[in-house]
Amino acid sequence: MNGGRALNGDIPISGAKNCALKLMCAALLTDQSLHLENSPNSLRDMRSQTELLEYLGCRVETQGDLMALNAGDLQTYTAPYDIVRKMRGSILVLGPLLARFGEAKVSLPGGCAIGTRPVDMHIKALEEMGAQITLDEGYINARAPQGGLQGAKILFPKVSVGATENLMMAATLANGTTLLANAAREPEIVDLGECLIKMGAKIEGLGSDTIRIEGVNSLSGARHSVVPDRIETGTYMVAAAMTGGTLRLKNARIKHLSAAVGHLSQTGVDIEEDGSDIIVNRDSAVPLKAIDIMTEPHPGFPTDLQAQFMAMLTIAEGAGMVTETIFENRFMHVPELARMGANITVQGNSAIVRGVPRLKGAEVMATDLRASVALVLAGLVAEGETTVNRIYHLERGYERIVDKLAACSADIRKA
Ligand code: UD1
Repeated sequence: MNGGRALNGDIPISGAKNCALKLMCAALLTDQSLHLENSPNSLRDMRSQTELLEYLGCRVETQGDLMALNAGDLQTYTAPYDIVRKMRGSILVLGPLLARFGEAKVSLPGGCAIGTRPVDMHIKALEEMGAQITLDEGYINARAPQGGLQGAKILFPKVSVGATENLMMAATLANGTTLLANAAREPEIVDLGECLIKMGAKIEGLGSDTIRIEGVNSLSGARHSVVPDRIETGTYMVAAAMTGGTLRLKNARIKHLSAAVGHLSQTGVDIEEDGSDIIVNRDSAVPLKAIDIMTEPHPGFPTDLQAQFMAMLTIAEGAGMVTETIFENRFMHVPELARMGANITVQGNSAIVRGVPRLKGAEVMATDLRASVALVLAGLVAEGETTVNRIYHLERGYERIVDKLAACSADIRKA
């Protein structure tokens, strides 16, 4: 890609990957069909999850952004290493399988290399619901007690999106009531919970840090539209901020991005809501102002937008501090941005970014999903040509990103 062009135009926002992957797992909780709309089916992660569910014997059919799943006739309760290693979201089959069938064998997951990312909280919480769990040759072997999982009071020692989701799904079919305390409050969890409620689950407290689930005997099918992807939305907001110009982000939810919008406004960018669209505008004659950001669980600033905001700070006026509190190894984009002329000093889990007048195009390497998009953003404003290698990371989480950007005048193509 060649940098320097202002972005102007409309960008349709896809359904949230981090929700759709979990909604697919929710299909395992019933023998009836689950129909998803606004599903980001073309993403590599969605394909990996499809591969896993099909391996289990779940039927998965897609057409455009529709997905129909039916787990009426499963063949196995084992999620093998070869499929699970591609993506951490696959650990989310554990709770549903265990709740509905009383047993599950799931390989310990892979995913982005942004930290050690253990699953100890998922395991411990399921044990608190009565599951017998052993770890053997890289697999989690789990078995529910006679009569099924038991409702329990679970206090998560740390806020975890995945553990909250796994336990929320497991608890829908457990005996009695489960309380999840210190639960995650991300919009994707609310959306998953709303779909489970449509399927007949009894859930209260979604969006708060205490979720109460009363187990039911069985769940039914449902039709659900996947919540818009707030991380994709935030990424294109940063694109408009960096390049200047006006982007209309279609079918987005501004209220899911309050922390990011607040920070972006402080840099001097105009952000407006127009029905279900968000309009982001920056006058390129006015320089961006540096800001400090610190990642936190929702409703704090999302770790999944940290790399993109850091890319923006590389060309802002002044110095900004980026502090990462969720993952211990999430600065892998720093050396790559430095190759493009960025001035960044890392100290522990903080990075000081001193703005430079211009980045320079370079050959860089994508290391994880959000880091790779940060390099694309940098390339959009860098002088000369930038080549981002290993873009399979990008394709895990951004639908048609090259087309979406090119339609708004970016000089970008897939090699
Ligand atoms: C999800 C998102 C990911 C996002 C992250 C935080 C998906 C597929 N991925 O990941 O994009 O960056 O939320 O918003 O939805 N932890 C433990 N033990 C556990 C589980 C987690 O120590 O059993 C730690 C993690 O290492 C991390 C922190 O808790 O430091 C938060 O992780 P978590 O919220 O679980 O992230 P994921 O659900 O894996």
